[in-house]
Amino acid sequence: MQPEIIIGGPMPDTVTAALEAAFTVHKLWQIEDQDRFFADAGQRVRGFAANTLAGRIDGALMDKLPALEIIAGFGVGYDSIDAVAAAERGVIVTNTPGVLDDEVADLALGLLLATLRQLPQADRFVREGKWPHGAFPLSPTLRGRTVGILGLGAIGKAIAHRLDAFGVTVAYHGRSRQHGVAYTYHDTLVGLAAACDVLIAIVPGTAQTRRIVDADVLAALGPEGVFINVARGSVVDEAALIAALQAGSILAAGLDVYEDEPCVPDALIALSNVVLLPHIGSASVKTRAAMGQLMVDNLTGWFTDGKPLTAVPETRHLRAR
Ligand code: NAP
Ligand code: 8YV
Repeated sequence: MQPEIIIGGPMPDTVTAALEAAFTVHKLWQIEDQDRFFADAGQRVRGFAANTLAGRIDGALMDKLPALEIIAGFGVGYDSIDAVAAAERGVIVTNTPGVLDDEVADLALGLLLATLRQLPQADRFVREGKWPHGAFPLSPTLRGRTVGILGLGAIGKAIAHRLDAFGVTVAYHGRSRQHGVAYTYHDTLVGLAAACDVLIAIVPGTAQTRRIVDADVLAALGPEGVFINVARGSVVDEAALIAALQAGSILAAGLDVYEDEPCVPDALIALSNVVLLPHIGSASVKTRAAMGQLMVDNLTGWFTDGKPLTAVPETRHLRAR
């Protein structure tokens, strides 16, 4: 008999098809009477394919699934899964590191250039028939800037590598200095922001990174400063960011992620010095397929020989039961 799993939220058709071929699936968002489901079929559910943008999986939810063995996340960030609560219950959590680094780094560079060179605004200018009446205003530039990366991990390094080719200076902040890395390290985020005029956030969304980009960091970035967030909405104090953009105490921002997705504050939408994307860092057909395949491989690896491929650090010590 195939193991029974829950799919937590909509996924690309190819990913859903691969899950349906290997498992008996329950699509959580399509179940009307969830209490009844948890009391009945939920008791047999052994796996959870988690769309990491579709609802939080906490200890209370895990407790409704007593046979649960593995939660396989569809994304590298797993802030929507309580991995500590999972470890306490002997439940493995996996994510999808590595297969999306280049895609997200490409997007980060695209968002940075779009923000600085005002590409969406220029596109609107042409479509609105304004060009015959005068030239598009001159834009700020990436030339001569120092770019600070908050979180020089797998994706942060891929961003830095691209920035090298753009001929700009790169610096970084993390909890510790990295060996074998030539970029300047700053042991405080405010120190990094003061030394840079672009700040790119690409850290995990954790309790420690919550609102780490605050009013002081934005003030240190300064009136020519540009903030790019491809990490999580939780890492920035959104109210402080809006205030800084409104006051012109930073120049501009490019955002892929928000505190309360998919709701974007009206105050951000009203601003002309922000470029807003709908959390599309990894959202190409090819990369989402690779992420989906790794999620499926984690589930099948667990159920065939007790070896998931990419367990998160909090649950890596757990073994097959
Ligand atoms: P990673 O390889 O684990 O790198 C994370 C980096 O963050 C590390 O360099 C780490 O350095 C740093 N970091 C962790 N906690 C920190 C803290 N409290 N203060 C300062 N730095 C901290 O992860 P990744 O694969 O690059 O992914 C990073 C994150 O990007 C994901 O968790 C996800 O939230 C986000 N993401 C977004 C999208 C999107 O679509 N927009 C797509 C993919 C990923 P230290 O350990 O030295 O502190
Ligand atoms: C996805 C992401 O949008 O991997 C991540 O951490 O934020 C994105 O790649 C998301 O995980 C889809 O569920």
